[in-house]
Amino acid sequence: MLKDLIAAKNYIRSVTDFMPEVGLILGSGLGVIGEEVTKKIIVDYKDIPNFPVSTVEGHKGRFVFGILGDKKVAVMQGRSHFYEGYSMQQISFPVRLMKMLGIQTVIITNAAGGVNKNFVPGDLMIIKDHINFIGTNPLIGENLDEFGPRFPDMSVAYTDSLVNIAQKCADTLMLDIRQGVYMGFTGPSYETPAEIRAARILGADAVGMSTVPEVITARHCNLNVLGISCITNMAAGILNKPLNHEEVIQTAEKVRSNFMKLIISILKNI
Ligand code: HPA
Repeated sequence: MLKDLIAAKNYIRSVTDFMPEVGLILGSGLGVIGEEVTKKIIVDYKDIPNFPVSTVEGHKGRFVFGILGDKKVAVMQGRSHFYEGYSMQQISFPVRLMKMLGIQTVIITNAAGGVNKNFVPGDLMIIKDHINFIGTNPLIGENLDEFGPRFPDMSVAYTDSLVNIAQKCADTLMLDIRQGVYMGFTGPSYETPAEIRAARILGADAVGMSTVPEVITARHCNLNVLGISCITNMAAGILNKPLNHEEVIQTAEKVRSNFMKLIISILKNI
């Protein structure tokens, strides 16, 4: 793993000596933020040795390095998911690579189903905490001591100061943002209504198929983490209609101008 990471880092360093401070991992339909980056340097995932290349619709599959909201950023347009058949180690790869490139903070976004009945599609939610319901963990296997301890603390998985900055930025922009708990499922099937009722009882406000492995990996190597969900649909069984990926992408696209303003404002205030 470490050797593979070093090879990937060396490849990126052969393309650019750019030193990003903040990494952005963008969810379904939200990758467009990468287009706003100035002084762009683009590195396709497929050219990076050992890098997991995502196949899901609505994802681009490249790093965009450059300036966004006055910060030096590395934007990941597209990410790999457990449901695509990648191992947890592969999903952790980009996060560790970002750490090796000098990044201190990651902003992780996703599309999610609303479990909290006060939510409506199009809402944005600052992730306060998560429930790992994936049934596995990206840190299983030999510990990479270079990155962090065998048993990393997860008491504060989502950095409090970043939650506060995100909330203040949303208030200033007059965006009515939510805060809540994200519960990670493997997918790719959406949840059943019974699973969503269970999720609500367990304390979830939103459900999705990503983010949890990346956040665990990020906290292991002591990166600061901000998570933001775009509630693209109400989760199964809440409204009397079936769920589909087109709706997820369409809602994410509707929200993306507000989303983009929020991310840029957060970057300026970090
Ligand atoms: N469930 C899981 N993942 C999702 C959903 C959902 O309802 N919407 C967007 N991603």
